[in-house]
Amino acid sequence: MLSSIQLQEYSQQGYLVINDFMSPAQRQTLMQRAVQLIEEFEPPQKRSIFTTDEQERSSDDYFFESGSAIRFFFEEKAIDSKGNFTVPKQQSINKIGHAQHQLDPVYKAMVEDLDFSSLGRDLGIEQPRAIQSMHIFKQPNIGGEVGLHQDATFLYTEPKRCIGFWLALEDATVDNGCLQAISGGHKIALKQRFKLSENGGTEFETLDDSPWPAKALELLEVPAGTLIILHGQLPHYSAANTSNRSRQAFTLHLVDDTCDYPTNNWLQPLQQS
Ligand code: FE2
Repeated sequence: MLSSIQLQEYSQQGYLVINDFMSPAQRQTLMQRAVQLIEEFEPPQKRSIFTTDEQERSSDDYFFESGSAIRFFFEEKAIDSKGNFTVPKQQSINKIGHAQHQLDPVYKAMVEDLDFSSLGRDLGIEQPRAIQSMHIFKQPNIGGEVGLHQDATFLYTEPKRCIGFWLALEDATVDNGCLQAISGGHKIALKQRFKLSENGGTEFETLDDSPWPAKALELLEVPAGTLIILHGQLPHYSAANTSNRSRQAFTLHLVDDTCDYPTNNWLQPLQQS
């Protein structure tokens, strides 16, 4: 599916941008499905907020079980100190994750149609396994920042072989929090691993404590329909959404079933049927 020029670009930059990967109808299908799922969703008493401070999630079973479920996480600014919504429910969700590609018929069919497994095989994944999906909203005015990280921190395998597919469901610009990445940064070591801790909860294990490369982040401003493929060790970031437009994206991550997926990884996926 990928040309030799695209493969070369990916190996040099650690990411690859493919325009017009998804049709407007396909984008609408996922965005409308998300509206339906949020409509049907009854917010629990304890509301899970997605923040970039992963430590905060450590005792949160709702987050913890989301590897094998469809769960809803709120924008930090969508809920005030008393637990009340500051915005309507449809504008309160930060993301839906992490197993809709297995559990929801609409997402499942879309993932099959877009054939990420073939792309993964082109990029060196021997036995692609879709392990995590997210519908990310980056809500108008309140969409939170996601700090600089490598996805393999959260989807660790031995040997390390994880690829992220990031699909722009809407235009992504600097104002609404487009992706930013350190081009070529996938060649650095994996810095951290997020895992289950022995005394319950989760923790970060430091694997390499050297600083991030002193290189400017590249702004990946892309029109709706674009696919960005991200190497699992590519450092990337997205700023808060300061605009009055959302910046929805759908992401899917593949790991390689020929690699070991440790039992103490934080994300415990559904077994494949
Ligand atoms: Fe990421």
